[in-house]
Amino acid sequence: MAELKQQVAIVTGASRGIGLAIATELSRAGAHVACVARGLEGAVAAAAGLRGEARGYACDVADSSACTELVKRVEEELGPIDILVNNAGVTRDNVLVRLKDEDWTTVLDTNLRGAFNLTRAVARGMMKRRSGRIINIASVVGLTGNRGQTNYAASKAGLVGFSKSAALELASRGVLVNVVAPGFIDTDMTAELGEDTRSELADQIPLGRIGSPGDIAGVVRFLAGPDSTYMTGQVLVVDGGMVMHG
Ligand code: NAI
Repeated sequence: MAELKQQVAIVTGASRGIGLAIATELSRAGAHVACVARGLEGAVAAAAGLRGEARGYACDVADSSACTELVKRVEEELGPIDILVNNAGVTRDNVLVRLKDEDWTTVLDTNLRGAFNLTRAVARGMMKRRSGRIINIASVVGLTGNRGQTNYAASKAGLVGFSKSAALELASRGVLVNVVAPGFIDTDMTAELGEDTRSELADQIPLGRIGSPGDIAGVVRFLAGPDSTYMTGQVLVVDGGMVMHG
């Protein structure tokens, strides 16, 4: 399976969970992966486990100039960027009336502004080369809403509008922008929920189980690869059938 042979991919939030699974899957498919995380140690450790010319980079995606710098460095060290996966994300859950200003700002800055920062930084090069894939990791709660997650749901819904608009702007230049909206996936982000809540949640999922990071990574590889060349501006829901829209 070398469908992404010699391609250069940036994956944010690659130190663990869904991001690590995506980085692993893209590198298995032949890509050279730049693993991005807030801390250098986690990013380098992730890259060390991958095939190809993988490298780790520390970057806070909420920081616009750090993102510009990151893209420059990756291009110097690995080559022009073919694939960007905006996966880094955080939660700061609370009911609306108790949500602090910084809970709102941190979540919007990381989940939405982060994707904007990096998409803008790679877009010009991709447009010039007339090829590129941008894949943004949203969430089903951006489509349905969720109690206790007004900030998070707003950031993920924003990501959908952002992606569709970018898809429209970039389509004529051969740059495809799509969204993956995961349901409930087994990672550090969801580990805090107790065993009872997790099994109650699993009972509500038609496919009868919580998803694994690999369930998302395979879909991202599809969106990065040769079998999705006629898709842009789409939201692929990967949630075991939890949310079904008409
Ligand atoms: P996680 O908490 O296990 O990992 C998050 C990753 O993002 C870490 O590598 C962390 O270092 C990185 N990160 C956080 N803030 C950052 C920043 N400012 N700059 C750079 N990197 C940063 O999360 P998980 O579960 O793997 O989630 C990955 C993505 O999938 C997130 O966008 C999340 O919102 C989304 N998602 C997760 C679901 C789940 O059930 N786990 C469901 C739906 C969406």
